[in-house]
Amino acid sequence: MAHRGPPLSGLLALITFALMATTVHAELSYSFPEEMKRGYVIGNIAKDLGLDVTTLSARKARLVSEEDRKQCCDLNLRTGEFIVADRVDREELCLEKLTCLLRLDLMLETPLELHRVTFQIQDINDNSPIFPKDSIKLEISENADKGARFRVNEAHDVDVGQNSVTGYTLEKNSHFVLSVNPNKDGGKNIELVLDKELDREQQQDVTLVISAFDSGTPPLSGIVAIHVTVLDANDNAPVFSQEVYKASLPENAPLNSVVVKVSATDADQGLNGEVSYEFSRISSKARKIFSLDSITGEIKVIGTVDFEDEQKYEMRIEGKDGFGLSTDARVVIEITDLNDNAPTIVLQSLNNHIPEDVSPGTEVGIIHVQDRDSDKNRQVRCSIQENVPFKLIPSIKNYYSLVTTGVLDRELVSEYNFTVIANDAGSPPLSSAKTVRLSVADVNDNAPVFDKLSYTAQVAENNKPGSSVCSVKASDPDWRQNGTIMYSLSTGEVNGVPMSQLLSINADTGVIHAGRAFDYEHYKSFKVCVIARDSGSPPLSSNVTVNVLIRDENDNPPQILYPTPQGSALMTELVPKTVLVGSLISKIIAVDADSGQNAWLSYEIIKSSDPGLFTIGVHSGEIRMQRDISEKDGMKQNLIVSVRDNGQPTLSATCALNVIISDNLAEIPEINDRYAESDSKLTYYLIIALVSVSTFFLTFVIVTVAVRFCRRAKPTLLFDGAVAIPSAYFPPNYADVDGTGTLRSGYNYDTYMTTGSHTSDFKFVTSYNDGTMTIPSSTLTSKKSPTSAVDHSELFHDPEMPAQV
Ligand SMILES: *[C@@H]1O[C@H](CO)[C@@H](O)[C@H](O)[C@H]1NC(C)=O
Ligand SMILES: *[C@@H]1O[C@H](CO)[C@@H](O)[C@H](O)[C@H]1NC(C)=O
Ligand SMILES: *[C@@H]1O[C@H](CO)[C@@H](O)[C@H](O)[C@H]1NC(C)=O
Repeated sequence: MAHRGPPLSGLLALITFALMATTVHAELSYSFPEEMKRGYVIGNIAKDLGLDVTTLSARKARLVSEEDRKQCCDLNLRTGEFIVADRVDREELCLEKLTCLLRLDLMLETPLELHRVTFQIQDINDNSPIFPKDSIKLEISENADKGARFRVNEAHDVDVGQNSVTGYTLEKNSHFVLSVNPNKDGGKNIELVLDKELDREQQQDVTLVISAFDSGTPPLSGIVAIHVTVLDANDNAPVFSQEVYKASLPENAPLNSVVVKVSATDADQGLNGEVSYEFSRISSKARKIFSLDSITGEIKVIGTVDFEDEQKYEMRIEGKDGFGLSTDARVVIEITDLNDNAPTIVLQSLNNHIPEDVSPGTEVGIIHVQDRDSDKNRQVRCSIQENVPFKLIPSIKNYYSLVTTGVLDRELVSEYNFTVIANDAGSPPLSSAKTVRLSVADVNDNAPVFDKLSYTAQVAENNKPGSSVCSVKASDPDWRQNGTIMYSLSTGEVNGVPMSQLLSINADTGVIHAGRAFDYEHYKSFKVCVIARDSGSPPLSSNVTVNVLIRDENDNPPQILYPTPQGSALMTELVPKTVLVGSLISKIIAVDADSGQNAWLSYEIIKSSDPGLFTIGVHSGEIRMQRDISEKDGMKQNLIVSVRDNGQPTLSATCALNVIISDNLAEIPEINDRYAESDSKLTYYLIIALVSVSTFFLTFVIVTVAVRFCRRAKPTLLFDGAVAIPSAYFPPNYADVDGTGTLRSGYNYDTYMTTGSHTSDFKFVTSYNDGTMTIPSSTLTSKKSPTSAVDHSELFHDPEMPAQV
């Protein structure tokens, strides 16, 4: 401001002076710009105070300051003017005070006067605005939003007022504008306002220039350069190379094999561009199988990959940069099947006990094959390896029926073990085998079979009752009770005796026991039918015939039929004196109820009154002359003949025979005595006639027998049927009915006969059926043997009793 001060200040000084005149005390005020040259006249004090200039020096007028500081003003005592004594810098004096006042006192002496003089120093624009720093570095993240403010320190201008900073400008740029707002402190907030987002990737550095200016004359300005470094902001999320990663992985892939590698790139820098990977969505099952390398993005196998368990895994993978921007990608892993599952064979509803009588084609079980693999690996073929009567027929789906192909026979094969093999169609194919065990259940299809077609048992007669006769054995291959055999005897009777009394059989062992003692002389044999029956239901049975042959024992002594046993006086043979050597005198007729050797009789003269006279045929029993009869020989000869059989032990019988050697019966006193009452002559002729007939007949018989003997060569039958036996003597029910248990009529007592004397009765039946036959006594001239008249009740001997004689 120019100095319009003097008139005003003069006025003021006047007023002040007027008021203070009395106290010699006036207040003066002047104003002048700073930076004036020395000698610049600020004002005229003398004029203003109305002082005489000439007196000024006298009164020693001077300016005094309270502060001991360099005087910036001087008083020109000659002119009474204030002048600038030294350079005045307002900024130095008053800093930023808006009004810069300099107070001085004007002192005058004689009289002492004191005047306050105030100098106001006016600012001039001598300073430019200055920013605290020439350049400012700013780092602004590229992701700073539009409108973001960045404070810039304001510029300072030590001048005041209009000379101080009054405004700012920002050099034109494309991102920022300048915002200047007063703040509370009276200063300004200078801010760069982001007007358009930065992008580091386009422009990494921005330089701005802000100018601050004042409004002085001329205006001054200062600038600051602002270097904005655009900081990378994490403004780019990672980007996966594919949205969906598809991989196929064979099952059972080894651990640590890489399935797929995902990769994402991030355009950002540094940490912001560092992508790490992690699963963002994954099933817990997949998590156990796959791992993700967070750095490389490799998905690896860490668990067991099983197609049969899961065929497809889907997961999401997140790619994340250092500050958490992320994207995700889908990973689909398809598992491909390997033929790693062998087929399994399941036996379903297996009938484990197949009755052996099932017809071929019967279904006995169902087999189910399974394979957990898929497609070809799943196709299974099933077969039976062994040669067994079973086959598999494919049924629905993977089912097979096991059917029989042939006839089963438990007795041949009771159990089948075979292997069912299932092959799948994979490559390489897998197979599995299962052993099937089938047992064949029994059916009672076998009747018992006897070891022999027929059995023959030999039993010695007079056996002990209960002794074992024989044993039969039948076998039945069936199982358990179907093969358990019980033996029994068929019912029936032998000559009216129930079979149960004759024999008994042990049902379990098949041992046949005699029910009583047998007598060969009654039964030579009989037949019994043994039935073997199994215990099945229904039972099966078979039977066999057992021929019981009773063996003869020598239990019967010979019986002498002629001559009649001892004590009979009639047994006398008459021999003429002229009889020749070798002539047949008599014949001992004996029988033995036994048979064979036991009935083979031999004759022996054990006592004789003249031992050399007679001989006896050892087997024929014929007594013949051994020498001619001499006169010396006694007329009466006695012979004792023993008949013994050939059994063990030997049994024997004896008889006595009287022989009278005489041509004349009358000479024989004993005979005469005996036949005293009879006509001896007639008797004599009768005897002669009888002897002749007997001799003739005997010769005929011998010839006949000899013929038959030659044919049959069986001495025991020597006389079988030789002598006419009236057929009436055979009871009709004794006809030979073989196999029904009756005895054969052919078993007759063998009799060794010889031609007898004239007193023999040849009507005697030399061959008779057996002891059961009662021979009418009227037909016999000789006495019946005690054994020949056995009735039915005595059919069997009590073995404890001695054989009857
Ligand atoms: C069948 O196998 C079983 C056990 O596996 C065995 O005890 C039996 O003797 C076998 N049978 C045949 C007929 O091989
Ligand atoms: C015996 O055979 C019958 C069929 O005839 C059968 O039912 C039964 O089970 C068989 N018994 C045994 C022990 O095998
Ligand atoms: C013995 O078996 C035959 C056939 O085998 C049969 O005809 C007969 O009746 C059976 N006899 C008895 C007593 O069972």
